[in-house]
Amino acid sequence: MNLTSEFPAKPVSASVTEMTEVVLPNDTNNFGTILGGKVMHLIDIVGAIAARRHSGNLVVTAAVDSLAFLSPIKAGELIILKASVNRAFKTSMEVGVKIFSENTRDGSVKHTASAYLTYVSMDDHGKPTAIPSVIPETADDKRRYDEANLRRNSRLMACSSEFNR
Ligand SMILES: CC(C)(COP(=O)(O)OP(=O)(O)OC[C@H]1O[C@@H](n2cnc3c(N)ncnc32)[C@H](O)[C@@H]1OP(=O)(O)O)[C@@H](O)C(=O)NCCC(=O)NCCS
Repeated sequence: MNLTSEFPAKPVSASVTEMTEVVLPNDTNNFGTILGGKVMHLIDIVGAIAARRHSGNLVVTAAVDSLAFLSPIKAGELIILKASVNRAFKTSMEVGVKIFSENTRDGSVKHTASAYLTYVSMDDHGKPTAIPSVIPETADDKRRYDEANLRRNSRLMACSSEFNR
């Protein structure tokens, strides 16, 4: 396994990914709002694209942190997902995803959820492989970069205590 990153670091902007979809009736619950599972699916797709753009490799999802749905998105509205890599470690990276709803009649846009996911970069043999580090450029990039390290520590601690039960 190659664990030494010999690749040039990349700015956060290299992984920025945005996806927009219309919420169709088939993806809604009895209240006519989008199913949580559909949102989770889209989060995983947009997050994986950001991770692939950063790493240049295929990736697998290693972890999804807690996810709170702050407000519903109705059928006919748009769901917009924005993702980028907050920080890269050796073979893994944290991706932040922000989800918005847009009502095209009145132009209103609402932040409906946020999620943090960890992806692992895989080589052609399905083994974890080293990735470029992230260059945080803006003040938000830097805040997310610092916070990603704290989240990683508590994530890995929670993960090891789960397996040691
Ligand atoms: C994720 C996976 C590749 C890690 O494999 P592993 O044998 O534990 O590999 P390693 O111990 O070398 O860990 C690789 C990286 O994953 C990270 N990792 C592993 N489990 C993790 C978890 N639960 N949360 C966060 N990071 C995790 C490690 O910290 C390490 O990161 P680093 O190299 O940046 O320090 C493996 O557990 C796996 O294949 N899981 C299933 C993935 C999957 O099927 N996802 C859903 C569909 S895509």
